Formats: sequence, C-alpha cells, structure tokens
Amino acid sequence: MSEKVAKLTIGDETYEFPVLDGSVGPSVIDIRSLYAKTGLFTYDPGYTSTAACDSTITYIDGDKGELLYRGYPIDQLAEHSHYLEVCYLLLYGELPAPKELDLFENRVTRHTMVHEQVHNFFRGFRRDAHPMAVMTGVVGALAAFYHDSIDITDPVQRETASVRLVAKMPTIAAMAYKYSIGQPFVYPRNELTYAANFLYMCFSVPAEPYTVDPILARAMDRIFTLHADHEQNASTSTVRLAGSSDANPFACIAAGVACLWGPAHGGANEAALSMLRQIGTVDRIPEFVARAKDKNDPFRLMGFGHRVYKNYDPRAKVMQETAREVLGLLGVENNPTLQVAQELERIALSDPYFVERKLYPNVDFYSGIILDAMGFPTSMFTAIFALSRTVGWIAQWKEMIADPQKKIGRPRQLYAGAIARDYQDMGSR
Ligand code: SDX
Repeated sequence: MSEKVAKLTIGDETYEFPVLDGSVGPSVIDIRSLYAKTGLFTYDPGYTSTAACDSTITYIDGDKGELLYRGYPIDQLAEHSHYLEVCYLLLYGELPAPKELDLFENRVTRHTMVHEQVHNFFRGFRRDAHPMAVMTGVVGALAAFYHDSIDITDPVQRETASVRLVAKMPTIAAMAYKYSIGQPFVYPRNELTYAANFLYMCFSVPAEPYTVDPILARAMDRIFTLHADHEQNASTSTVRLAGSSDANPFACIAAGVACLWGPAHGGANEAALSMLRQIGTVDRIPEFVARAKDKNDPFRLMGFGHRVYKNYDPRAKVMQETAREVLGLLGVENNPTLQVAQELERIALSDPYFVERKLYPNVDFYSGIILDAMGFPTSMFTAIFALSRTVGWIAQWKEMIADPQKKIGRPRQLYAGAIARDYQDMGSR
C-alpha cells in the first residue's frame, strides 16, 4: 500500500510528511522533520490538534462518547470487573488469569503501609491544609524512602515503584483525611479489598469496631475504575513530560497530582459540588445557566464540557446510575443536590448554547454527590481522583520509559518579545 503523505506548500516549496495510522481513531501527520526541512514550527497552544505520543493503553472516541481501557469499554469494566483487575489490565495490557490476579493483588496488599517516618511529614502541615497539598508533598517525598525503586533504567525497580504507588496512594489519601479531622491514622487491613480498605482507613476509629458497608465499597471501587485512566489528559501529559527527563517515578506522580488539582481538571469534582450547593434549589438554575453563557462572567458550569467528549462522557452515565443507587441505599434518594444536578443537566442539554458547543456532563458532574453521601468532605474529592488515576499515570509513564523513541519533551514557541537590544545603565533610563 503506497505510503500516505500530507503535502505542505510554503511559498513555492512543497514539502511531504508521512501520515501514520493507528488501530482506530484519527491518523497523524508525522511532522518531526518539519523544522529541519522548513525552519518553521507548528503552533498549537493547548494541544487541541497534537498527538504527543503513540499509546496502546486507552482510547477515547469523543464523538461517540466511547472510552476503552486496552480495548475494553468502560461500562463493561465498571459492571463486571473491579479496580485491581483494571489496574492489572492497564499496567500489563491483558485481563489477568486467576493466578495472575491473585499474585498481583497479594503484591499490592503487602505494600499498602508507608514507612513510619512518613507519618512525620503530615505533622508539618496545618490541620486545615488541603489534602491535595499534602498528597503533592508526601508523594514526592516517597523518593526519599524507597531508594531501591528509583532507578528508572532498571525494569525491576520500575515495577516495584509501580506496585508501591498503586498500593500506598489510598493510605496516603486516608492519612491526609484523618489528619485534617484530628483523628489518628488507621493502618490498612490486609484482609480487606482495596476499596474497602480505603473506606476503613478513612472512617474507622480505634475506639470501636468498624464494618465497611459492602455496597459503599462496591460504589467506591467503581469510582476508582471510572477515574483510572483517560489517554493524554493534562495530568497524564505532565507525568509523561516529567518522566521524559528520567525523573524518578515518585517525582513524576507528584507532578501529576499537582496538575490534577486544578479546577479545570481533577479539581472540577470539588468545584461541581460547591456549584450545585451554591445553586441550592431548582428555581435558581436559570440564573446560573445564564451566568455560564455570559462571556463577561467567568462562571462556568463545573462538571460540564470536555476537550475530547463532544457527546455524553460515558463515565458520567455510570456515575449517575451509581449516584441514584448509593443515595437510594442510604435512604437519601430525594437528596436536593442530586435533584438540582439532574434538573440542571436537563435544562442545559436543551439549551442551544450548550447543544451548539456540545457541552455535556463529564465524569466530575455526579461523582461529588456520591462522595458527599458517603461522608467525604469536598476537599477529599480530588484526592480520591488522584489515587484512582495513579495507575493510569504509572501505566502511561512505563509505556513512555520503555518507548525506543523516548526523547526528552522540549516544545518550542512563537516568540513575540523584544528583539536583541543593548543594556542601558541607570543614567540613561
Ligand atoms: C477532567 O482531559 C481529560 O481527559 C480530563 C478528564 C480526565 O479524566 O483526565 O476527563 C477529567 O478534567 C474533566 C473536565 C473537568 N473540568 C470541568 O468540568 C471544568 C468546566 N469545563 C471547562 O472548563 C471546559 O469544558 C474544559 C476545560 C473541560 C474543556 O475546555 P476546552 O476544551 O478548552 O473548551 P473551551 O474552554 O475552549 O470551551 C469551548 C466553548 C467556549 O465557548 P466559546 O468561546 O466557543 O463561545 O464552550 C464554552 C467555552 O466558553 N464552555 C463552557 C463550559 N465549558 C466550555 N461554558 C460554560 N460552562 C462550561 N463548563
């Protein structure tokens, strides 16, 4: 089959660039030789039309509202799988056989505790520190403890660091929560499942026995799965860029945590619930919809819109069903916040402004309602997103490190500043 090429004419010169096909989704124009051939850069702030890498991990079809982890649709994984099996799938590319899953779950379970000295880091924070500030600091500090898993050239060390991070993020997130409410840290329990362990570390106290509600554990596990990976989003791209300098895995994941914190990204779940609470009642929805449409008003509907999804975010669908299920089981199905969310969605999806811009609820629109009903403060929402996404960040980081084409990421710019000029001493200014 003849090689597909893209032709670019600049002045009276025409240049050809190869067009590369993936297994599904948009093909790419390979412009790696553009600057050498033409002396020009491409210009794409926000990377709206740029593929920064090739990957085999996660595929999103924004028009169809489709999300696949290693080819498996997210709704099927949310229904039939569980988070540690999804972690195995994302990390190793295939669904595990029973023995492989047992071995993996065992390895993760035995890495859930953190070094006792790590406890001291928490004591340095104010009690009202945002959990994401704590996680950014503590995750980066892990590099000071696990010297036997920071050599990124050693695949065995990369594997150990990967398992340690998947295992320890729930413990660190739970410690950040306990510290913020002045309760003692709770050690993980090896007999509990990953999600049940996280709820146990968050909500049990040493003063009395605590049994995790299996329905809430199942909902928690599903929330972890829905957030596990999402192609080359801002925080994953941050992890890849940090990793391209051969920084250690703990530093790279800390960079991902920091980026995810932003309200335009992972911070949207916290902002969405705050927005729903600010709206308060259904009759105030039109006022806020009008503000979201007003270009002079910075207000946006948090949990709405997406760079890739121009259809319903498939995760939001599962999240909405889970919200109804959990609130029903908790006996709060007529939760006013859920009612406002559902009415807001109905109104927005019939409003031309949102329809024309293909703005739909995203993963963050309903997740906060479930987490709030489970008893988490809004400040913990993004920390839960971060612990869920750690496996995706690691899978993408491992893929980047193992890529024979790996190069340090170093974008260029369109410079619009001052051209060369001589220094002026004070007397002549
Ligand atoms: C996540 O990338 C990922 O995959 C991220 C994520 C993941 O799993 O990693 O999916 C997780 O981050 C989900 C997104 C969470 N963020 C929010 O919910 C914040 C609110 N949404 C937006 O800020 C916005 O939609 C973004 C940031 C999500 C996407 O922004 P884009 O792609 O840069 O789109 P844009 O800002 O250029 O918006 C296009 C138009 C604009 O209007 P016009 O200038 O064309 O007139 O839509 C408008 C925007 O003003 N618009 C909104 C809106 N989102 C976009 N108007 C009102 N409310 C909104 N929420």
